[in-house]
Amino acid sequence: MNVYDGERMTEMFAGQGMVQVENGKEADLVVLNTCHIREKAAEKVYSDIGRLRRKDGSSPMIAVAGCVAQAEGKEISKRAPSVDIVVGPQAYHRLPDMVAHAQSGKRSVDTDMPAISKFDIMPPRTKQPRPTAFLTVQEGCDKFCTYCVVPYTRGAEISRPWADLINEAKALVDGGVSEITLLGQNVNAWTGEDEKGQMHGLDGLIRALDKIDGLKRIRYTTSHPNDMTDALINAHGEIESLMPYLHLPVQAGSDRILKAMNRSHSRDSYLHILDKMRKVRPDIALSGDFIVGFPGETDQDFADTLSLVKQVRYAQAYSFKYSPRPGTPAAIMDNQIAPEIMDERLQALQALLNEHQHDFNKQSVGRTASILFERTGKLDGQLIGKSPWLQSVHVIAPGLKIGDLADVKLVDSGPNSLTGELINILDKE
Ligand code: 5AD
Ligand code: SF4
Repeated sequence: MNVYDGERMTEMFAGQGMVQVENGKEADLVVLNTCHIREKAAEKVYSDIGRLRRKDGSSPMIAVAGCVAQAEGKEISKRAPSVDIVVGPQAYHRLPDMVAHAQSGKRSVDTDMPAISKFDIMPPRTKQPRPTAFLTVQEGCDKFCTYCVVPYTRGAEISRPWADLINEAKALVDGGVSEITLLGQNVNAWTGEDEKGQMHGLDGLIRALDKIDGLKRIRYTTSHPNDMTDALINAHGEIESLMPYLHLPVQAGSDRILKAMNRSHSRDSYLHILDKMRKVRPDIALSGDFIVGFPGETDQDFADTLSLVKQVRYAQAYSFKYSPRPGTPAAIMDNQIAPEIMDERLQALQALLNEHQHDFNKQSVGRTASILFERTGKLDGQLIGKSPWLQSVHVIAPGLKIGDLADVKLVDSGPNSLTGELINILDKE
């Protein structure tokens, strides 16, 4: 979502005549869009601020945006006096005014969660630099997992209105996009009323987006198991443009830990969702998030995580060491886990996840897949694109270019990517 927010900020500034530069030190203004999810991400902003100092000791105008800004507010300018602007993730539409204010030498901090949504104020989407784009449909979280800062930094769950989303998606397609990834901290909690006043869940929105001419692929992320309705699962068996990929974080495989995390799903209820999904879409690529070393996690609890992974065999996954976050209930729980145990567990989990990812890629060899080309490769005539299962595929495709879609035979696989041979050009501008 920070990528989406960054793009909206860039578009907003571009509308005012600003241009992007490659090197931060050369910029008049640098916006550091930050993440507060784990301590390591949050600390990064301070080293980045230091790195912006020029040889003569001056710095560009610096705005710290995002969730670190939201969580740490005024503290940031105390710790890093070269910061001119601090703006939270729900107030960044005010950045242009804040920049004008900062030009007169005054600092400003805005961590409001205003009633009028930033989405109503920002300019419409225009020409897009890439064939794929993000579209935030839902923001915030009411789930309050005990380790997580998101409900405090991004605020309560809100769904953007139907018409706004259809319009933004159409504008993205008009701007050259053929794949849209719908975003939300709990994207599948999205609900909204269509133009006839009928209520829909995310599946309804996807069905409406599927009808947009020129939109070839739809994805969504991140989902919560509790909002995974049968209607959304079934949509995967019915809508061709909905890609066969599901990112469904589980976090842990032990019911005891899931309860302590306040996840409100069990190991079995999670696995049941995946079973239903595999019934309607047998080729679905599954992805997840994991936390190791949550307070009180025993060897047996961790073994339960490994056994869940073995049962599911994810195509791809993200895994993290538990990071205590200020203000969250888990940060003050007893039995915090020693760093060396966390390291060991993370290594063991990642080895298993990597093996399964490689297996998934190996099993794809021999398949024919449509590939949407997103960038050029190192070799002559080589393009790199994504398969429906979100794998990177390298193809020698002379005459084709970024944004084209082609049928490709997958011929070789590595842990992180595949090689394909061009069969048939599906869509070329
Ligand atoms: N420590 C480690 N990982 C975390 N996540 C969220 N909060 C924490 C934390 N305190 C992970 C979860 C979530 C992903 C976005 O980040 O796995 O799904
Ligand atoms: Fe954080 Fe996701 Fe839990 Fe919400 S559902 S509190 S965003 S981990």
